[in-house]
Amino acid sequence: MCGIFGYLGRRNAVKTAIDGLKKLEYRGYDSAGIAGVFQGQIIGCKEVGKVEGLEREVQELDFQLESAIAHTRWATHGKPSQINAHPHYDNARSLALVHNGIIENHLALKKELVSQGARFVSETDTEVISHLIASLYKGDLLFAVRKAIGMLKGAFAFALIHKDFPDQIVVVGHESPLVIGVGEQEMFVSSDPVAFSEFTHNVVFELLQPINRCLNGNDEVAVVHRDTFEVFDAAGQRSEKKIEKLTAKFGTASKGAYEHYTLKEIFEQPQTIRSAYVDRLSEEFGTAHFEEVQTEMPELLDVERILILGCGTSWHAGYLGAYLFEDMARIPTQLEISSEYRYKNPLVPHRTLVIAISQSGETADTIAAVRELKAKGTNVHGSTLSRIADACINMRAGPEIGVCSTKAFTSQVVILSLLCLAMARMRNMHKEDGKRFITAIEDLSAQVEQILETAPHIEKIANKYAHHENFFFVGRRYMYPVSLEGALKLKEISYINANGYPAGELKHGAIALINENCPTVALCSNKGTYEKILSNIMEIKARNGPVIAIAESGQKGLEGIVDDIIWIPEVIDELAGIPATVATQLLAYYIARKRGTDIDKPRNLAKSVTVE
Ligand code: M6R
Repeated sequence: MCGIFGYLGRRNAVKTAIDGLKKLEYRGYDSAGIAGVFQGQIIGCKEVGKVEGLEREVQELDFQLESAIAHTRWATHGKPSQINAHPHYDNARSLALVHNGIIENHLALKKELVSQGARFVSETDTEVISHLIASLYKGDLLFAVRKAIGMLKGAFAFALIHKDFPDQIVVVGHESPLVIGVGEQEMFVSSDPVAFSEFTHNVVFELLQPINRCLNGNDEVAVVHRDTFEVFDAAGQRSEKKIEKLTAKFGTASKGAYEHYTLKEIFEQPQTIRSAYVDRLSEEFGTAHFEEVQTEMPELLDVERILILGCGTSWHAGYLGAYLFEDMARIPTQLEISSEYRYKNPLVPHRTLVIAISQSGETADTIAAVRELKAKGTNVHGSTLSRIADACINMRAGPEIGVCSTKAFTSQVVILSLLCLAMARMRNMHKEDGKRFITAIEDLSAQVEQILETAPHIEKIANKYAHHENFFFVGRRYMYPVSLEGALKLKEISYINANGYPAGELKHGAIALINENCPTVALCSNKGTYEKILSNIMEIKARNGPVIAIAESGQKGLEGIVDDIIWIPEVIDELAGIPATVATQLLAYYIARKRGTDIDKPRNLAKSVTVE
């Protein structure tokens, strides 16, 4: 994982690199570091924690560099510490290197390098690359780098500066993203163009797609100078690269009047939900369409099975999608966690539509799962994994800065609902039913608005329960995925142990954990199973478990039984996951706030998980 930034040019290299790193913190924030050449020497500075810590340190030291490489880390090999922070050096400090990815054969390489005399100081896999290149370097840096990458296994991107070439940054992107930004007498290197987009929109990457912003897939090496760059292939031959114009808009994110990005993003949902469906509904025909996908294409009509892939919150959205596709479109749908699916040697019958869901489009597990399917010759449709997918439906939710995913989830569910509507209408769904479903979708924004208005009530409930260390979230049918998502939100931002559970499954074991110190959030909105969840609530109450119900106005039988109720508007079962999730987001947010955690950047996490 991690974010890489490099700068060569007329600006203050340290400041430019630190500013760039701040925009890459979504990729990890365990430690940060910077290095480069100053008066012929490689010097560096590293700090544990967020980039602002590094910024303070370089300001205090009045740290200067002529050119800089910098890094923000999400720890994989070795705990977050100053010694494990990047950049990493060779023993002679002739080079500094920053890396994103994992070197899978680092132990074997380390053994060999140690036997040759290399002294390792960190626990990282990255340090192997520094020592390896140094050991292969005999005056021809390009040769040493090319030779080294032939010996490395795994997915990796790295940037290095060598003291013999103070005006160069050498970069490699092997199945990990790395982009070059071409400015006016200045050059940038970054894991993501967002980090330099305020300075230049001229970029070099293979495709203008969010997922494969990799410089190359063929072990190319780029040498970046102050005003130009060269790319060499594995044989050392120069390869031509097109400079392309960045078309994506990169707004400057701001919290506005909100205390946290997470809260702002929760409150943005009436708009983001609307953006997800606007222009995509055909009221007249009771169906949906996407400018990005030809929903009328014959392949969609021929689809006999659906496979949904995702991780974390995106997997939870996929869970709701899977229920929808089976219920409404009557298409057998399989849901898989990307990181598990990849190693399954799965059976993928002919005419399977694969939907890979991702907020970032950079999740390594999901990319790997889709690549595996591609390798099997599957026809992949949909997803934000744009390069490898055949089509990509945009969420139109704007940047999500909070590490905990909120508005992305509700947008994903809206989009899955639209796709499901389109496919159901192609099959057996009546136009009038399609129209009714459209009305329900169009009502969602206002319904979410109503829930947001109850935030002070939810905050009061949150304050009452914030001291508990264990929670259950339970639901049935459409509320089961919501229970998983609600529990994940609480775990992620408040560090409370929370379990999402099918309400009917509690009695098969987990009910042993219920007592007066373990509250349960009971998600009651699935009307088809309301009577059943009421019984499950009684079972919890009989064991002294406090219960907070999230229920639809009009649902009877809860008052006097449960301890607290969060009322939400009545919504059809198929879409009830959206408002119910918003209520759980607010509950998790206010509990975390009461506990004083770092809500926007919770410990141990990163926004984009770009390692497997
Ligand atoms: O970018 P993606 O949607 O592919 O990310 C998948 C998960 O890493 C992500 O949803 C994660 O679970 C969230 N931080 C949860 O809030």
